[in-house]
Amino acid sequence: MKTMLRLCAESEVVEGVPVSVELDNIPPLAVYRINDEIYVTDRTCTHGDADLTEGFQDGDEIECPFHGGSFSIKTGEAVNLPCSKPLTTYPVQVIDGIVCIEMP
Ligand code: FES
Repeated sequence: MKTMLRLCAESEVVEGVPVSVELDNIPPLAVYRINDEIYVTDRTCTHGDADLTEGFQDGDEIECPFHGGSFSIKTGEAVNLPCSKPLTTYPVQVIDGIVCIEMP
């Protein structure tokens, strides 16, 4: 049986304003909206200790607030230097209006 983690209400997640979620025993997460879809990635940049929810969301990319590298929110792929290592992404389910991921 899979354990689902409840992250936040879907209605809280506004395009361009990623939501930071901290839960016990897993890395901090960032929740994004792109059009009608919700996406979840790790919150910490893979280049340094930056909080990506303080960065700039441009469509389906998130730009790091520290050195301006960026990632695809949908795939985690690093799309601009100095970021080169991909960001972990998580499949999302919205259950009764709550954004959920499987326990990683
Ligand atoms: Fe994110 Fe350097 S810490 S680009």
